[in-house]
Amino acid sequence: MASIYHAILSLITIVLFSLPAWATDGDPIHLIPEPVHMEAQSGTFVLDDQVNLATDSNDPALRKSLNWFTETVKSVTGVTIGRTGSKEIHINLNKTADSQLGNEGYRLAVAPGSISLTANTAAGAFYGMQTILQLLPPALTAGTGDWQIPAVNITDYPRFGWRGLMLDVSRHFFTKDEVKRFIDEMVRYKYNTFHWHLTDDNGWRIEIKALPELTQKGAYRVKRTGRWGTFQPALANEEATDGGFYTQEDIKEIIQYASDRYITILPEIDVPGHSLSLISTYPELSSTQKPYSVNAGWRNQPQDDNVLDPSNEAVYQKLDIIFGEIAELFPNPYIHIGGDEAYKTYWAMNPNCQELMKREGLKNVEELQSYFIKRLVKILHSKGKKLIGWDEILEGGLAPEATVMSWRGMSGGIEAAKMNHHVVMTPWDYVYLDLYQGDPLVEPDTYGMCRLIDSYQYEPVPEGVDEALILGGQGNVWSESIPTFRHLEYMIWPRAIALSEVYWSPKAKKNWEDFFQRLEWEFKRLDAQDINYAKSAYDVIFNPTNIRGQGVSVTLATEAPGLDIYYTFDHTIPDLHARKYDGSNLTFPVGASQLNAITYRDGKPIGRQINISKEELVKRGNAQPHVY
Ligand code: ACM
Repeated sequence: MASIYHAILSLITIVLFSLPAWATDGDPIHLIPEPVHMEAQSGTFVLDDQVNLATDSNDPALRKSLNWFTETVKSVTGVTIGRTGSKEIHINLNKTADSQLGNEGYRLAVAPGSISLTANTAAGAFYGMQTILQLLPPALTAGTGDWQIPAVNITDYPRFGWRGLMLDVSRHFFTKDEVKRFIDEMVRYKYNTFHWHLTDDNGWRIEIKALPELTQKGAYRVKRTGRWGTFQPALANEEATDGGFYTQEDIKEIIQYASDRYITILPEIDVPGHSLSLISTYPELSSTQKPYSVNAGWRNQPQDDNVLDPSNEAVYQKLDIIFGEIAELFPNPYIHIGGDEAYKTYWAMNPNCQELMKREGLKNVEELQSYFIKRLVKILHSKGKKLIGWDEILEGGLAPEATVMSWRGMSGGIEAAKMNHHVVMTPWDYVYLDLYQGDPLVEPDTYGMCRLIDSYQYEPVPEGVDEALILGGQGNVWSESIPTFRHLEYMIWPRAIALSEVYWSPKAKKNWEDFFQRLEWEFKRLDAQDINYAKSAYDVIFNPTNIRGQGVSVTLATEAPGLDIYYTFDHTIPDLHARKYDGSNLTFPVGASQLNAITYRDGKPIGRQINISKEELVKRGNAQPHVY
């Protein structure tokens, strides 16, 4: 009898504990970005082959999106939704606009027998489809039931109209298919702008038909593998075999692909600095006119002349051709002209620049840069386009009507907004997704620090600035240390998930604990769909303080809520039997030189063990805040 009792008990235990974690989670709704308004209802809609997808709209964009939805549901769940069946998903466009929803909002009502999605535009309906997909469980394991969608009423629309991610394809080239995958991943979180950094010192990535040598030469460099910035310069006669570019046919295909997903592409041609791939093709366009090869990731020593000469009319002739073809290709009303980090020493040494400055009454090289940008405004206007540039375009006088992308913090954006200019906020310490997101001792090599919680807590509208002038913001991914698509995913997710909520959801709904709980559900979905992401938010954070004459003390913290930390000073592995961190200041015992720490949740390790030396803590204690 006892053994039967035990057998039943252990069977129950196996069943309970072999259910996926989310099957035992009481709240099945975990949406990111958080909708504006949501009311859970009772019951569920079962998504199976009895579902009829219906619309009374002939809008071609909506019809395309319905096909996208059918295909995506099939690939995620294996379920074929059709045009007949006992249950309906109606997706319709409002005949009279619903003013609350604007251009991108939607209303969704899920009930046990039907789903109703309405919007003013096909874009709004598309965002509603993303929400339906997020209402599905992340995955079904064999025998765990149906694809159930919980009943809920949602009204939703974005806080900002510009919700972007920037990808640098110059430092490392990403193929057409990888770019499409990047776009597919953006779509999940309702992003609508793909800022494509197409040119830099390390490769020119877009075919310009009138200048074929630009991609024949400028798109390739010698091959180097390892830590960016440490590489050997090109050897004499070494062949440039590494790189690639997009033909104009590729570009058109990607523009269409993005547009079918309601993503507009912002092309960037970075000038006058960051122009070595252009200058390596046409050395006459720089002040020094020296020959260069495309930089494969070596440090510039001394500073390469990667800056166009603003006194040379041939520069404007080439840029007129380049921006002419860019304007023809890309429907976006904006073109990004870069404008960042132009090293101006060679301008100061260039007699033609001196003469131009005298002639134009320009007092310094900053005003010379402003002159250059104003010439570009004219070129872009002649092609029917507006100019956006990094915040250095403020220096020496901001060109009328230029839009500023603020990256060196928020101050450039504030200054531009005070002058009534539009701004896109991308301050590096909150939105640069190539920075460290966890302790450098356990992360792949990069620089700086931007943790998940920094991205989440970022507020794009500074005090005293008119929100109407802040078009929105982005996450920016520079690819010096990102040689593969897999690593690109690791760097983007989950920080860009946090940013999607910053740009879409109401400010008043911000709540880190709630977000993190929804994010963990999303991690399961990313796992199920084989999308890479970082789990760095589960690791220990070391906060050292150096006290003069008393050495270093350290407090420990975590980003993820509700974790326990265990630590040792004796070089052993910290586990549940080691000391549990209690929030106090830790100091090193006499003779100790290393602190090992790890996070646990519910008695199981969850973060990575990090071993940090006393010297490293002292070094960090002396560093500027926010470096680690
Ligand atoms: C930049 O990060 N140089 C815009």
